[in-house]
Amino acid sequence: MASSSFSVLFVSIFLVSFSQTALSISPKFFLPSHDEHITSTKKFPTTMAEKFIRQLNLFPKHDINIVSSKENNALDANYDQRLFEKKLNLSYLGDSGATVQDLGHHAGYFPLVHTKAARMFYFFFESRSNKNDPVVIWLTGGPGCSSELALFYENGPFKLSDNMSLVWNDFGWDKVSNLIYVDQPTGTGFSYSSDNTDIRHDEIGVSNDLYDFLQAFFKAHPDYAKNDFYITGESYAGHYIPAFASRVHQGNKNKEGIPINLKGFAIGNGLTNPEIQYKAYTDYALDMKLINQTDYDDINKLYPQCQQDIKLCAKGSEEACSAGFSDCTNIFNSILDIAGDINYYDIRKTCEGNLCYDFSGMETYLNDAQVKQALGVPSVIDFVSCSSSVYHAMQTDWMKNLEISIPSLLEDGINLLAYAGEYDLICNWLGNSNWVHAVEWSGKKSFGTAPSVSFTVDGEEKGVQKNYGPLTFLKVHDAGHMVPMDQPKAALEMLQRWTQGKLSS
Ligand SMILES: *[C@@H]1O[C@H](CO)[C@@H](O)[C@H](O)[C@H]1NC(C)=O
Ligand SMILES: *[C@@H]1O[C@H](CO)[C@@H](O)[C@H](O)[C@H]1NC(C)=O
Ligand SMILES: *[C@@H]1O[C@H](CO)[C@@H](O)[C@H](O)[C@H]1NC(C)=O
Repeated sequence: MASSSFSVLFVSIFLVSFSQTALSISPKFFLPSHDEHITSTKKFPTTMAEKFIRQLNLFPKHDINIVSSKENNALDANYDQRLFEKKLNLSYLGDSGATVQDLGHHAGYFPLVHTKAARMFYFFFESRSNKNDPVVIWLTGGPGCSSELALFYENGPFKLSDNMSLVWNDFGWDKVSNLIYVDQPTGTGFSYSSDNTDIRHDEIGVSNDLYDFLQAFFKAHPDYAKNDFYITGESYAGHYIPAFASRVHQGNKNKEGIPINLKGFAIGNGLTNPEIQYKAYTDYALDMKLINQTDYDDINKLYPQCQQDIKLCAKGSEEACSAGFSDCTNIFNSILDIAGDINYYDIRKTCEGNLCYDFSGMETYLNDAQVKQALGVPSVIDFVSCSSSVYHAMQTDWMKNLEISIPSLLEDGINLLAYAGEYDLICNWLGNSNWVHAVEWSGKKSFGTAPSVSFTVDGEEKGVQKNYGPLTFLKVHDAGHMVPMDQPKAALEMLQRWTQGKLSS
């Protein structure tokens, strides 16, 4: 079994698996030196993270958005320290049902108050329907990929056509919510800093930054602070989302700032509880006939080591967290060695050469000088679609179990929707279903025995769901890792019903 070969695989928008070889290099190695706007190797990907980024046909000019202090001083002189936000006036094709001027489309930066020099970039799209719709924030995974991947290819107000025009999306989530996309952790997308200590390594740092972003956002948009608030996202955001939800809940309880009306959090094809989810890989692969029984028995022999690392990682051993990243990834890589060139985000598809998806249009569009100007992005800041340095910096965070914060949120009536497209391997529905069933809360037994019922859209079954109290699990049919891309209408229905409390009725 080529369990530690460099030849294979990795993964991401969202998740990447790593080889032993890459791992033997300390994560610090990848961090930019001071005052360098780090530029990645143009021709050949040198790390597995760079390789996975190429699979999405992305070629960010820099490994991370860390600018020099000189550049930073120049930037600061250019705009107001508290807020820099622009109302967008981009051109759109097709019919939105409203004129662009009537819609509140914004983009900008908020400085993060508890960092040395970090500025977080965001898009904010007021609801196309009603200002009182809930506020929904979306987080893409990676770690280190921009949330604009979702904006342009999944659930944003518009899609990017081949000729770089924006075309209205009939199933944009802004039809039922006031929708925010942020680039995070710092160094991702258009978000930047001039100080390496602002680079995040764990969910404490990530969730504090997101909380500070949200406080700044609601201060600038006080009209929206009373609305219901939901956290959503995908993939590695299965780590971010529970941490962020807990941070918001704690901030509310401690009366730290503007109260945030947190009603729920939704995790789409996430990585949340690695001990359970890494065990499920072989079960899912066998069920889907990616491997046979012999392969299954062989690969399962790798699990005890992975499990032991995860348990030690939970007890505070950072070495074990790193070892787990490698040992657990061997399980995934071993399956891919056998399954061949399947697209592990959607096992119905194959990757052609190195290419699994083509998201290059987003990079072209967002690096256009006029577009950057319209967005209020300084000309010296390039768009880092996916940051390999941010990815590496988060390496010891991967094997941590983010499920542990969920029971207290459920007990306090905050809703969790875990949903998963059924053809995704990397964050497969089985592993997600397993951890959701294992959450230790007062409704565990009742959730376990709750019936599975159809999730029906326009008279057609689009998934199967299970609910008890604040907890819902939904397996989405005919979809891979990116549910809103594969099933746009069903995904919008899901969001609308869930935020209106009608998903389970
Ligand atoms: C928006 O852009 C259009 C064309 O690019 C222009 O005619 C219009 O005046 C702009 N509106 C605002 C409010 O800047
Ligand atoms: C660009 O593509 C869109 C959508 O495919 C199309 O409607 C539009 O006419 C195209 N614009 C140009 C200038 O070719
Ligand atoms: C299972 O698949 C492996 C290749 O992955 C093959 O070598 C082996 O013969 C297969 N075993 C059975 C019982 O089909």
